[in-house]
Amino acid sequence: MNISELRDTAKAMVAGDKGLLAMDESNATCNKRFAALGIPQTEETRQAYREMIVTTPGLGDCINGAILSDETIHQQKKDGTPFAKALMDVGIIPGIKVDAGAKDMAAHPGEKITEGLDGLRARLKGYAQLGARFAKWRAVITIGDGIPSRGCLEANAHALVRYAALCQEAGLVPIVEPEVLMDGSHPLQRCGDVTEQVLQTVFDQIYLQRVILEGMILKPNMVLPGLTCPKQDSVDEVADATVNCLLRKVPAAVPGIAFLSGGQSAELASARLNAMNIRFQGRMPWALAFSYARAIQQPALEIWKGADANVPAAQQALYHRAHCNRAARRGEYNSAMENS
Ligand code: 13P
Repeated sequence: MNISELRDTAKAMVAGDKGLLAMDESNATCNKRFAALGIPQTEETRQAYREMIVTTPGLGDCINGAILSDETIHQQKKDGTPFAKALMDVGIIPGIKVDAGAKDMAAHPGEKITEGLDGLRARLKGYAQLGARFAKWRAVITIGDGIPSRGCLEANAHALVRYAALCQEAGLVPIVEPEVLMDGSHPLQRCGDVTEQVLQTVFDQIYLQRVILEGMILKPNMVLPGLTCPKQDSVDEVADATVNCLLRKVPAAVPGIAFLSGGQSAELASARLNAMNIRFQGRMPWALAFSYARAIQQPALEIWKGADANVPAAQQALYHRAHCNRAARRGEYNSAMENS
C-alpha cells in the first residue's frame, strides 16, 4: 500500500469545486429505471446509455471521478475505447462499485446487510488493472418501528470497513457509503439521531480495523425528514442538521464527504448542498461535495429515452445538473440557474 498515493487520489476526488458522478447502478436497478420509461432492458441499451453519459461534452469540467459498475467497466464506446479510458482522457478518475448488493438480513425483519466480501481481494486487483483508482460499497440502514437494530448497524459497519481496509491494501481509495434511507414518516430529528449512531459505529470500526482516514471518502445521506413526514423542513434546516451531525462524528483527517442524493429531487439536492457550503463556509475541516446518481442522471435519462436522436439534449441536461452541483460546492447555486 502506498499511503501518499491513496491520499493524493482521495484529495483529487474532491478537489476544487467538482464532485463525483455515480453511474454504478447494478443491471437490475438500471433495468428498473429503464422499464419505468419504456426503454428496452438490454446490455446494448445500457451500453448506449453509459456512452451518452461518458461522452457528455464538458463533463470533466464538473466531475472529478465517476463510479462504474462491473458491466460498465468491462464495456467500451462504440469506437472500441474502454469507458474507463474514455473517462481518463477527459480528466475523470474511474472508480468501481464492488459490493454485491443489500440483501435481507437473517433474523432481522425489515433490515438489510450488504454482501460481497468473499473473493473481494482478488476482484479489487482485477479492477485496479482495468484502471479503477477508487471503489464504492453501500450499506443500507432503514428507519422504522424498533429499527435499525444494534445487530444490523454493527454487521453493516463491520463489512463496510472490511471492504475499506481491503481497498487500501489494493491501492484503491474506498468510498465508505452508509446510507440511512429516506423512506418512512419519521421527523428530521430521528434521521439525525440514527445517522449519528451509524457514523459512530462506522468510525469505531475504521479505528479498530486500521483504515487510513486520509485515504478514504465518506458518502453519507443528508439528514432529512422521512419522505412521508408531514413536516418537510426547510433547505436551511436540513443544511444545519446535516453539517452539525457530520461535525460531531466525522474526523477532520477525512479529506472529503460526498453526499448521495437518495431520491431527493435534483433541484433540492443542489439547493441543500449549496446551503451547507454557504452556512458553514470556513468551518468545515473536510471538502463537502456530491456523489449523486439520480440527482445528476434522472433528468437526462427522461430526455434520452433510449433514442440516439435525443443524445444531445440528454447530454445538455446531464451537464446542467453537474454544473449546478459544481456551483453548489462554491455556495453559488441559485434557482435562476434552473431556467438559464
Ligand atoms: P443516488 O444519488 O441516486 O442516491 O445514488 C447514489 C449512489 O451511489 C447509491 O449507491
